Amino acid sequence: MTARAAVILAAGQGTRMRSSLPKVLHKVGGRAMVDWSIDLARRVGCETIIVVCSPSGEAVQAHVAEVLGEDAIAIQDPPQGTGHAVLCAKDALAGFSGDMVVLYGDTPLIPALAVEQLFGELSDGAAVGVLGFEADVPGAYGRLITNAAGDLDAIVEAKEATAEQLEVTLCNSGVMAARASTMFRLLDRVTNENAKGEYYLTDVVGLAREDDQVCRAVKCAEADVLGVNSRVELAEAEASFQAKRRAELLVSGVTMTAPETVFVSHDTIIENDVTIEPSVVFGPGVMVHSGATIRAFSHLEGARVHGGAEVGPYARLRPGAVLEAGSKIGNFVEVKKTRVGKGAKANHLSYLGDGDIGEGANIGAGTIFCNYDGFLKYQTNVGKGAFVGSNSSLVAPVTIGENAMVGSGSVITKDVEAGALSVARGKQMQKSGWATQFRDKMAAIKAAKKKQG
Ligand code: UD1
Ligand code: CA
Repeated sequence: MTARAAVILAAGQGTRMRSSLPKVLHKVGGRAMVDWSIDLARRVGCETIIVVCSPSGEAVQAHVAEVLGEDAIAIQDPPQGTGHAVLCAKDALAGFSGDMVVLYGDTPLIPALAVEQLFGELSDGAAVGVLGFEADVPGAYGRLITNAAGDLDAIVEAKEATAEQLEVTLCNSGVMAARASTMFRLLDRVTNENAKGEYYLTDVVGLAREDDQVCRAVKCAEADVLGVNSRVELAEAEASFQAKRRAELLVSGVTMTAPETVFVSHDTIIENDVTIEPSVVFGPGVMVHSGATIRAFSHLEGARVHGGAEVGPYARLRPGAVLEAGSKIGNFVEVKKTRVGKGAKANHLSYLGDGDIGEGANIGAGTIFCNYDGFLKYQTNVGKGAFVGSNSSLVAPVTIGENAMVGSGSVITKDVEAGALSVARGKQMQKSGWATQFRDKMAAIKAAKKKQG
């Protein structure tokens, strides 16, 4: 296979986001938009990925350096259009002689198949492949002008288009593929003599046609090429992503009683025969295995839930929560960095952080793992089959032995040995008749005061 590279354009200012965070770092499905483009480039086999950043976009540069390395950054200074942006990646691609695709950092939902089809057009002999879509409202999009053979003759920007060309509804998504040598050869001939005074990437199509080279358009759905310029469009992209993933989950055998109220992340894995009740949110890093049930109003992030386990209603699983088969985490229970062993239960009102709970253990209502002293975090271990009475505080580091019991309301600061009972609370005392005498006395005082007026 011909080697592949991607150039991701991310040097725009994104002013319409009205944000101190650069546009391409805003998230869709819990992942920065530029990372969607990077992931797409990887999925279609691009070994080299260059992200074109503006000199002032330090946060974007830092992000790209972290994800891809310093060599993946090309600086466009100052931004002079999409064609100029691609040219800025020329040095970074020196020595690369394969096919390249141009992606935007603000267009997160493009299916890999569409880009594969563009590369396919190159193997079939096209000089340039462009991803297009039928726009509901063509507006400011560039128009794809095709000829009698159905091939692409030109891309005309809305500002340059004639009234007749503006009638065309087939629009440019911005994704374009060409052999790298062809792309840069054509870009060298692009000028900025146009309405915006910019170097348009789109001009390469007309220039290739001047050389009698074939250009082709590949069509995809408008929703797949939704570009984000504002928070309104960010919300639209999110909705589009959610709708697509929910549909895929249903098809793959996940039960959702109200799928429109369930929110997933880009990497959420939910196996078949999982049941998800209404209003559940999956943050990044969640895996739910076959046969688990996630009940209403639960929030999961960085967690793994095994088969037969039950979560919620109203439960919170944070990073490092691992629920083994048949375990149960009930309402208002928060679990962080804690393994909950097979069949173990914490059904009500608890905080279980930095712990390990053995098979079949029972954590009573209101149990708190006191894991933090204001400086460091400590571990709480609860052995197999142990029983922690309600409203107990386990002050970490501490271990409750196998099959041990902790009396309700205890503040446990020392390890409890296996099989033992530990009670750590004030001793109960009783004064017979005290309450009756107290009431009589107080009632008499109150009556006397009333009489006095
Ligand atoms: C561009 C296309 C248009 C297409 C539309 C799809 C051109 C000339 N026009 O128009 O045909 O229908 O996208 O959304 O290509 N960028 C840079 N450096 C620059 C300019 C832009 O990195 O100098 C980046 C932006 O950050 C953005 C992308 O390129 O991610 C597109 O730029 P934008 O200015 O939004 O292009 P449009 O005018 O919308
Ligand atoms: Ca745009």
